[in-house]
Amino acid sequence: MSKRYVIAVLEGDGIGLEITAEAVKVLQVIEQSAGVQFELVHAPFGGQAYFDHGHSFPEVTVAACDKADAILKGPIGLGHEESSRIPVEERPERGALLPLRKRYNTFANFRPVYLPPELADFSPLRPEIVADGIDIMMIRELIGGLYFGSKEEGTDAKGLRYVKETLEYDENEIRQIHTVAFEEARKRKKVLHNVHKSNVLMSSVLWNEVGDEVAAQYPDVEVKHVIVDAAATAMVLNPRQFDVMVMENMFGDILSDLAGGLLGSLGLMPSACIGPDKGYYEPSHGSAPDIAGQGIANPYSMIGSVALMLEKSFGMEDEARRIWQAMRAVFADGFTTRDLGAREPGRTALGTAAFGDKVAEALTA
Ligand code: NAD
Ligand code: IPM
Ligand code: MN
Repeated sequence: MSKRYVIAVLEGDGIGLEITAEAVKVLQVIEQSAGVQFELVHAPFGGQAYFDHGHSFPEVTVAACDKADAILKGPIGLGHEESSRIPVEERPERGALLPLRKRYNTFANFRPVYLPPELADFSPLRPEIVADGIDIMMIRELIGGLYFGSKEEGTDAKGLRYVKETLEYDENEIRQIHTVAFEEARKRKKVLHNVHKSNVLMSSVLWNEVGDEVAAQYPDVEVKHVIVDAAATAMVLNPRQFDVMVMENMFGDILSDLAGGLLGSLGLMPSACIGPDKGYYEPSHGSAPDIAGQGIANPYSMIGSVALMLEKSFGMEDEARRIWQAMRAVFADGFTTRDLGAREPGRTALGTAAFGDKVAEALTA
C-alpha cells in the first residue's frame, strides 16, 4: 500500500486561486513519480469565503484542516474597497489567518530567502553585492508578540480616542523559537543572527536572556546579535553575511518582505509554518489584488511552499529537492515571470500556468 497523505488546500483570495492551481499540478506529478497518494480537500478560506459562507474561516474549513496531515494555503485578503464591506473582526487577516496560526500553534515560521548565483540578475542589488547569490533562512516567531497581545481601545479622561496593544512573550515561547533556530543553524553554517531591539524594548531583553540560555546548549553555533533597524540596512548592503536569522513576530513580518525585495519579488518567497502537531504552508506575500485574475502571478512561492511541505511534513526530502531543482532549471533555461525585473536581456516571461507547466515538465524529464 502506498503512503497516503491528506492535504487541506485553501486557495484563498486574489492570485491565490491561480498560483494554487500550479502547486496542485506539481503535487500531482510528484504523486505519480514518488508512488504516494495525496488526498486534496479543497476548502474556502479568506475574504471571498466570508461573502460565500458568512465567515472567513468557516466551520467546514476548520474541520478539513483538523483532519488534514498538512495544510497548503494561498494568500488571503481583498482589495481596500471589498475589504471595507467585511466587519473588522471577520476580515481575513484577523478573522482567518491569525486564528489558523493560533489553532495549530504554528510558532515557527521558516522564510527561505534564496537566489542562486545564476539568477543574481533578478535582484535589484548591484552585481558585486549579489553575484554569489543569496541564501538566508529567516525564522520568525509566528504566534506571539504584538499580533496576539491584549488590545484595548476607547476614549480617555480628556476625551481623546486611544488604543493600546501589548507585546507579550513568556520564556517558554521564546525558548521554543530559539531552539528551532539553533537546530537550523546547526544544520547549516553554524552561525545564528539574533535580531532584537533590547536598547528599547523589555521584550527584547527577555528574548536575549532566554536566547543566551539556549545558546549554552549549542556551543558549536556562533551567535551574532544585531539590532533590528541596523539589520534592515545590513541585509541590503551585504545579505551574504547572513545565514540563519531569528526574530519575533513583527520584526519578521517586516524584514521578510524586505528580503523579498532583495530577491527581486515577493513571488520568490515561500514559507513553512510549523507547530507541534502539523504544519501549514503559504507564500510570504499577500493576494496581490493589483494583478489578480490576469494569469501573470509568479507561482514559485506557492510551488516552493509545496516543496517545504514535502520536506517538513512528509519527510520527502528528495522530492522537495527535485522541485527546487526543477524551478531553478526553468529559470536557467531563460524563462522568467513578469514580476521579476531581470536585467539579463533575452529572458522570456511566462504566465502563471505556463510556468507551472514548465516546472511539471522539468520534473518528468
Ligand atoms: P502583496 O504581497 O499582496 O503585494 C505586494 C506586491 O507584490 C504587489 O505589487 C504584488 O503584485 C506583488 N506580488 C506579490 N506576490 C506576487 C506573486 N506571486 N507574483 C507576482 N507579484 C507578486 O501585498 P499587499 O498588496 O500589501 O496586500 C494585499 C492583501 O494581502 C492584503 O489584504 C494583505 O493583508 C494580504 N496579505 C495576506 C498574506 C497571507 O495570506 N499570508 C500575506 C501578506 C498580505
Ligand atoms: C504575512 C502577512 C500577515 C502577517 C498578515 C496578512 C496578517 O503579512 O504572513 O507576512 O502580518 O503576518
Ligand atoms: Mn507580511
